[in-house]
Amino acid sequence: MKMPVALFLLLALSNAVLVFGEETEWECDNKPILRQRPHSVSIVEFGAVGDGKTLNTLAFQNAIFYLKSFADKGGAQLYVPAGKWLTGSFNLTSHLTLFLEKDAVILGSQDPTHWEVASPLPSYGRGIDLPGPRYQSLINGYMLYDVIITGHNGTIDGQGSTWWDKYNSHSLNYSRPHLVEFISCNYTAVSNVTFLNAPAYNIHPVYCSYVLVQNISVFAPSESPYTLGVVPDSSDSVCIEDSSIVVGYDAISVKSGWDEYGIAYGRPSSNIHIRSVTLKSFSGSSLAFGSEMSGGISDVRAEQLFISNSHSGIGFRTAKGRGGYIKNIIADEVEMENVYMAIEATGQSESHPDDKYDKDALPLLNGITFQNVVGSNISLAGSFTGIQESPFTSVCLLNVSLSIASGSSAYWVCSNVSGLSQSVVPAPCPDLASITPSNSSSGSCFSLLYSNTRSSAL
Ligand SMILES: *[C@@H]1O[C@H](CO)[C@@H](O)[C@H](O)[C@H]1NC(C)=O
Ligand SMILES: *[C@@H]1O[C@H](CO)[C@@H](O)[C@H](O)[C@H]1NC(C)=O
Ligand SMILES: *[C@@H]1O[C@H](CO)[C@@H](O)[C@H](O)[C@H]1NC(C)=O
Ligand SMILES: *[C@@H]1O[C@H](CO)[C@@H](O)[C@H](O)[C@H]1NC(C)=O
Ligand SMILES: *[C@@H]1O[C@H](CO)[C@@H](O)[C@H](O)[C@H]1NC(C)=O
Ligand SMILES: *[C@@H]1O[C@H](CO)[C@@H](O)[C@H](O)[C@H]1NC(C)=O
Ligand SMILES: *[C@@H]1O[C@H](CO)[C@@H](O)[C@H](O)[C@H]1NC(C)=O
Ligand SMILES: *[C@@H]1O[C@H](CO)[C@@H](O)[C@H](O)[C@H]1NC(C)=O
Ligand SMILES: *[C@@H]1O[C@H](CO)[C@@H](O)[C@H](O)[C@H]1NC(C)=O
Ligand SMILES: *[C@@H]1O[C@H](CO)[C@@H](O)[C@H](O)[C@H]1NC(C)=O
Repeated sequence: MKMPVALFLLLALSNAVLVFGEETEWECDNKPILRQRPHSVSIVEFGAVGDGKTLNTLAFQNAIFYLKSFADKGGAQLYVPAGKWLTGSFNLTSHLTLFLEKDAVILGSQDPTHWEVASPLPSYGRGIDLPGPRYQSLINGYMLYDVIITGHNGTIDGQGSTWWDKYNSHSLNYSRPHLVEFISCNYTAVSNVTFLNAPAYNIHPVYCSYVLVQNISVFAPSESPYTLGVVPDSSDSVCIEDSSIVVGYDAISVKSGWDEYGIAYGRPSSNIHIRSVTLKSFSGSSLAFGSEMSGGISDVRAEQLFISNSHSGIGFRTAKGRGGYIKNIIADEVEMENVYMAIEATGQSESHPDDKYDKDALPLLNGITFQNVVGSNISLAGSFTGIQESPFTSVCLLNVSLSIASGSSAYWVCSNVSGLSQSVVPAPCPDLASITPSNSSSGSCFSLLYSNTRSSAL
């Protein structure tokens, strides 16, 4: 017997906590309701001291171990009061809410020995910075169900400067840790918290389903090397909304594994909805796809994006050897200001995990639509450089109006790309053939654009 989805979840969680409605296409229209847990304990009850100096790793570990016993009673909340709570890495448990009070700051220790070392993710085969193992994230979830990190805008501060220095001076022993990582988890939410100074990524759901990121602030300084904001990686049914993300590299980055490891693991990122976000990316893309995309990326809708002071606004990166695909992506209602390159799609992102990748594994990029985009002080409107053996196809620009900074010479760069355009200023390269409503049915992107029944389009 097949029960309706909503009913099943209510039964499964009975007393609690993350209650999702019926499954639909766009996850942000179908968010879970976050409810109070029936039990709560304070980290202070486990001997934690919020002086910014005492190491509280054991207090967090012990508190969460204790709270495991509430899993079948609707779960429990671990309350972190105002204070500075220094800690090394710790693991969460299912049916847990980590609640950060106003002025509560979880501080990541700057001593690498306080961070556990973990094996690389199977879809990467190595760490992001170095071959071999990697430091575990500050806050980890492994094979969990129903986990929430929330509060009254408390802060998770990775104190990343020590890690950035080690990265820049090539003195890391293992790849840098992230702030929050969920591996193979279902039904997780992060809301109402601020993230500061991540060593590398801020929030990294990998091999997860049903992820909600809402009303968060993320900040890392412009010079922080390869700091990323929210990184859905081989994950599906993700909503990211109402958030502000300012980082050194990519603000939101959708990924799915790296070359032969990502191809072998074969788990795509799909059904991702991004809405109402303010993004800044000093040296990367405010919204990025790839470059690790070997498990495939599809069905992403990003709308109401406010992008400023970024190197590139929306970027797609891939390379020969990746395999996989990026398809059915829509960016709608995008405002950009002071962006060097508004749109970028490159097939020459040549970084590989090792030399065992298959050079004939060609990635596919097909069905990317940009609509209702306005930009001011843009230097380069768009750069599309596809792969000769696998050109980018069905790239569509509709109602795109970019005002180009004085002194810019090239507006668009196009090679090995085809697609369509309508109402685009400045006029795009002829590879993106202009269309009018009368001949619009000729392009595959238009079934997508003009379809009101989204499910038939995707
Ligand atoms: C945290 O979880 C990881 C992955 O399951 C595990 O290897 C590690 O030993 C755990 N650490 C603690 C302190 O339980
Ligand atoms: C997550 O959902 C998948 C697919 O339904 C299932 O195979 C997996 O066991 C679930 N994992 C957890 C930790 O609930
Ligand atoms: C966002 O977070 C702030 C601070 O925690 C809170 O005051 C506000 O109500 C939240 N907004 C929403 C829509 O949840
Ligand atoms: C949360 O606090 C940060 C600074 O700690 C602030 O920048 C942000 O605006 C606050 N978020 C909300 C929603 O109030
Ligand atoms: C790296 O490992 C070496 C040798 O084990 C150790 O002396 C050094 O302190 C480590 N460096 C860091 C940053 O952990
Ligand atoms: C965020 O905080 C506000 C105010 O405390 C609360 O009303 C809202 O439900 C919270 N949102 C989430 C998603 O936790
Ligand atoms: C235009 O944008 C660039 C970044 O691409 C920035 O450096 C410059 O200050 C901006 N100019 C104005 C007038 O805002
Ligand atoms: C074009 O896009 C702009 C910016 O999103 C929007 O204000 C305008 O209504 C759009 N025009 C049409 C004809 O859809
Ligand atoms: C396709 O890209 C290759 C380089 O990767 C370039 O040599 C070739 O001229 C491009 N073809 C077209 C039609 O732009
Ligand atoms: C659509 O029609 C316009 C004007 O009639 C023409 O310039 C354009 O090339 C046509 N586009 C396609 C894709 O056929």
